[in-house]
Amino acid sequence: MTLRIGILVSGRGSNLESILISVRRGLIKEAAVSVVISNRPEARALRIAKRHGVEAVAIDDRGTPTEEHASMVAEALMEHGVRPGEGLVLLAGYMKILPRSFVDLYEGRIMNIHPSLLPAFPGMDAQWQALAYGAKVAGCTVHFVASEVDAGPIIIQKAVEVREDDDEDSLASRILRQEHRIYPQAVALFAEGRLRIQGRRVLVSR
Ligand code: GAR
Repeated sequence: MTLRIGILVSGRGSNLESILISVRRGLIKEAAVSVVISNRPEARALRIAKRHGVEAVAIDDRGTPTEEHASMVAEALMEHGVRPGEGLVLLAGYMKILPRSFVDLYEGRIMNIHPSLLPAFPGMDAQWQALAYGAKVAGCTVHFVASEVDAGPIIIQKAVEVREDDDEDSLASRILRQEHRIYPQAVALFAEGRLRIQGRRVLVSR
């Protein structure tokens, strides 16, 4: 059965695009991106979705309480066949914290990408945090979403060196290149039924 994927975005959409390309090239098998939803109507990611022929929906969150907004998002996902217990929800630069009700609804079926080696540097501006701390190694993490921010079981991580002449932009773009590799890999593993969550650990079967 085809895995139906819904992708939540807020901005640029480069991770979204890497996943759309991976589906099209057959690197992610037995899966289809059914809908892309943005909490920002002006997000470039919506234009990327349309360009790839994927339904793009804006659900503006300005002036709407978090719980209410999240249930509108869940409704739109379900309308497009991304059902709890069946579908997969991907956060790709979604700059909004999902309430527990949403996380419980799609339990074990929501993934996020974060530009640090979690549990280091959760939250906003992770690349800046790594530089400001003086870290020698930075990176990115794909993880399942739990209701605590940036804290769910880790699926794949990739380390990236921090260079002495790095600024936030150069480090962020080196990390981003790896994000574009590991997010599709994690989604492919999920689509192939090869991920199992055991407590805090994610086991990958061969
Ligand atoms: C990416 O670097 C992603 O890891 C980060 O936002 C960027 C979105 O870029 N996400 C977070 O910081 C989540 N806490 P994109 O819209 O081009 O994919």
